[in-house]
Amino acid sequence: MNIVLFGPPGAGKGTQSALLVERLSMRHISTGDLLREEIKKSTRLGTEAKQYMDKGELVPDLVIIGMVEGLLKELGERSIILDGFPRTVPQAESLEKMFAGLGRQISKAIFLEVPRNLLLSRLTGRRVCSSCGSVYHVDDKPSKAAGVCDVCGGAVVQRKDDSGDVIETRLEAYEKSTSPLREYFLKKGKFISIDGVGETEAVFGRIQSQLV
Ligand code: AP5
Repeated sequence: MNIVLFGPPGAGKGTQSALLVERLSMRHISTGDLLREEIKKSTRLGTEAKQYMDKGELVPDLVIIGMVEGLLKELGERSIILDGFPRTVPQAESLEKMFAGLGRQISKAIFLEVPRNLLLSRLTGRRVCSSCGSVYHVDDKPSKAAGVCDVCGGAVVQRKDDSGDVIETRLEAYEKSTSPLREYFLKKGKFISIDGVGETEAVFGRIQSQLV
C-alpha cells in the first residue's frame, strides 16, 4: 500500500504518520524531515533548502524530486506513507512516473482537513525534539519535564519556521501550490478527505478505517 498523506501545515501529518509506522509498520517518508536532516549535516542540498524553509517557501520541485527518487529505489516491497510529498502538481506527476518505473502506484491520497484557527494554535504551540524528532504541544501534549524529550532525553525546541510571519507564508504556499492537489487526486479517484479535528486517536481511527 502506498499512501499519500497531505494537508496544510500543522494538520497532523507527522503525528498520524508516527502512529501508522508504530501500529501498521509502514515506512514513513517525510520530505520535511529529510530536508531537516540535510540541514543538520550541512550538506549542499541542506544549505540550499534552508534558504527556502526559513522563509516558509517551498523548496524547488527539482530538488525535492531528486531527493525522493533515490530513496524510493531503495524501498523494496514495504508499504509506505508519504508525508509532505507530493506538495505540488508537478511533484505528483513525477511521483506517478517514478512509481510506474518501480511497479508501484498511489493507493490513496488522504487529505487531513483542519480549520485555519486550529492550524495556527497547533503550529505556534508545537515543540519538537531536536534529537529524535518526537512532536509535542505546549498545551495538548507537553513533554513530562519541560524542554526534555520523553523518548530520548534530547532538547525539546520550537521549530524555526513555527513563528508568526513564516507560518503565514507557509499557509499561503499551501493554498497556492498544494491545495490544487485535492482536485488532482479527486480526478484520479484517489482522494479521501478526513476530518483532522479531535483527539489524535480519533483521527487515526478515521484514517485506519480507509486503509482496507
Ligand atoms: P514539513 O516539515 O513537511 O512541514 P508542514 O507540511 O508545514 O507540516 P508540519 O510538519 O508543520 O505539520 P504536520 O501536518 O506534520 O503537523 P504535526 O503532526 O507536526 O515541511 C517544512 C518545510 O520543508 C516546508 O515549509 C518547505 O519549505 C519544505 N518542504 C517539505 N516538503 C516539501 C516538498 N515536498 N516540496 C517543497 N518543499 C518542501 O502537528 C502539529 C502540532 O499539532 C503538534 O504540536 C501536534 O502535537 C499537534 N496535533 C497534531 N494532531 C493533533 C490533534 N488531533 N489534536 C490536537 N493537536 C494535534
